[in-house]
Amino acid sequence: MKTKNKQAHLEIAGRDEHALVNLFFILLKTAHLVEANNATYLTQSSKFYVIFRRLVDKYGKISIKIIDGRVFVRDRIIKFNSDSLVNATAILDNWRQIGLGGITFDDSLDNRQLDKFIYLIAKRSGTKADRESVIRRLSDIGIEGISLLGIEKKEEKELLSEEKRKLIRRTARVTFFKSISVVQDAMVCAEQDKEIDITKARRVVNSMIDQIASDESYMIQLTSIRDFDDHTYAHCANVCVYSLTMGVRLGFDKLRLSQLGMAALFHDIGKVRLPGDLIRKPEAYDENDWIQMQKHPELGTKTVLRNLKFDDYSARAARVAYEHHINDDFTGYPVLRTKMPTNLFSKIVSIADTFDALTSGRVYIKKPIPTDEVLRKMMYQMTVKFDAFLLKLFVNIIGIYPAGTLVLLSSGELALVTKNNRDNLSRPQIRIIGDRFGPKKEFIEIDLSQPEQAGIGIQKIIDPGKHSIDLKTILQMDS
Ligand SMILES: [Fe+2]
Ligand SMILES: [Fe+2]
Repeated sequence: MKTKNKQAHLEIAGRDEHALVNLFFILLKTAHLVEANNATYLTQSSKFYVIFRRLVDKYGKISIKIIDGRVFVRDRIIKFNSDSLVNATAILDNWRQIGLGGITFDDSLDNRQLDKFIYLIAKRSGTKADRESVIRRLSDIGIEGISLLGIEKKEEKELLSEEKRKLIRRTARVTFFKSISVVQDAMVCAEQDKEIDITKARRVVNSMIDQIASDESYMIQLTSIRDFDDHTYAHCANVCVYSLTMGVRLGFDKLRLSQLGMAALFHDIGKVRLPGDLIRKPEAYDENDWIQMQKHPELGTKTVLRNLKFDDYSARAARVAYEHHINDDFTGYPVLRTKMPTNLFSKIVSIADTFDALTSGRVYIKKPIPTDEVLRKMMYQMTVKFDAFLLKLFVNIIGIYPAGTLVLLSSGELALVTKNNRDNLSRPQIRIIGDRFGPKKEFIEIDLSQPEQAGIGIQKIIDPGKHSIDLKTILQMDS
């Protein structure tokens, strides 16, 4: 019985439902840019209304609901293509902030009311308005054919026992270190010009997806480990974790996530065609080094096409390898003869790659830059280089204090950030691990966003390298 319900729940919506949702999101976006009498807006609005009437005549009323970041119409799931997905995610993020979980339109809705409603919602986005104030406004202006639904909570997740949490942390660690060795094996294979067997890579990526989809914070914590002998492989694993986290937040289905993960894992594979001394050079690169280094995207595409079986996965990986250093403003490399926008996967990987390269200080620049400074740099100095929405999404994932950051608390204690609170980035969840007298015998888990923790604050980020703190060991300690 249970299985049957689940299957019905995930039934894919029909063509009219897809068109309705896409047009609805287009209307919201258009309403941001133009007035209600604009010809483009009116054309889209009439199209929406025709489909709406067709559906409502058949079913009586129509609900667009958001459950766990997915969109449902009449309890059937909507699948977005890449372009509409980015548009939809921005709108859904805003709905979440104002506590809106869905909208029901009933038979009495006319064209004029619809337009008023679209403009009401569009004008509210980005403000501190909540669902209640929008409902009040709806009744003030006499719109009755629309009801706004609250956020439907996922089934309450059972509280995880400490034992279960330890197991999840251990599984995340095994998967993460496995991904590093998978990249290493693949790169060694490519170096010897042998065919790369991607079965292991696909398996490890799928396991990463499962873990990130259930809780991204364990994986993100592991990306903060810096002391690897050869950072090239860990860099690829980190870029994979960040890219997949963005993919999960964007609502990608499993197949797309798997392709994105593989592309991220192999994005720098072209580096195997460059001299090892150059990759591992401890000093800053000179002009000649840069000329060499800038060949790795092209070499990467050639390597993927030559050493991986050709299929949808390798085709996407080849494109990401080629495009991941081409910026949104077409600066970067390789220089394109025809300026074509890069692929969505490449845009995602490019953000993840830049962040890891700058924070690790082991890829192109030779000195790590603190995460908060890197995010500021990316947000203010490098905005034209990245897709604005994806960058915002990334900053929201990483937060001010990314999971895995060591911080000094106002109480004088030392803590590890374990998880970000999406709606309160400056007050994450932390694990107190020590104080001025040394490590604590028992770690204490605290959520700084809870009112009872208002007396404690984060004073500053601690660089584990500067204080001889072994982050790898701390992350492996399960108190
Ligand atoms: Fe690269
Ligand atoms: Fe890279």
